[in-house]
Amino acid sequence: MNKIKFIAFGSDHAGYIYKEFIKKKFYKNYNIIDFGSFSEKKVDYTDYIHPTASYINNKKNDNYLGIIFCGTGNGAAITANKYINIRAAILWNESIAILAKKHNNANIISIPSRFLKKNEVLNIINIFLEEKFEGGRHENRIKKIKNLY
Ligand code: RB5
Repeated sequence: MNKIKFIAFGSDHAGYIYKEFIKKKFYKNYNIIDFGSFSEKKVDYTDYIHPTASYINNKKNDNYLGIIFCGTGNGAAITANKYINIRAAILWNESIAILAKKHNNANIISIPSRFLKKNEVLNIINIFLEEKFEGGRHENRIKKIKNLY
């Protein structure tokens, strides 16, 4: 069952068009909040991904998902993963999307906008949304992510 009810969006200029595309597809079925960016003007991804990740981080609620976009998906994911409760996964094909939910219970998904077609992105996000976290041994591993050495 799909538990996600709220989606927070964030992008830089490289992900802006894809963010708008996905937002339009999802606004009827989810409560959405958009942290920008709001145009294709060059910006720093950090300025938009920090507020998005911070929002999801503070919710501590499985009903919330962040979807973030930059050129490679890397800068956005690296930024989001600074937050203690965030598990941001870069989604770039169907199998990775399935496993990001089943094994990692990602609460933010990061899209490499310059390397995928719009419909590929829509497809892998939908696949992610339909998947369920497996729990069990993966739950133990997720708990250990917060263990710092
Ligand atoms: C912007 O040119 C690009 O560097 C950014 O979108 C992202 O790919 C960074 O990781």
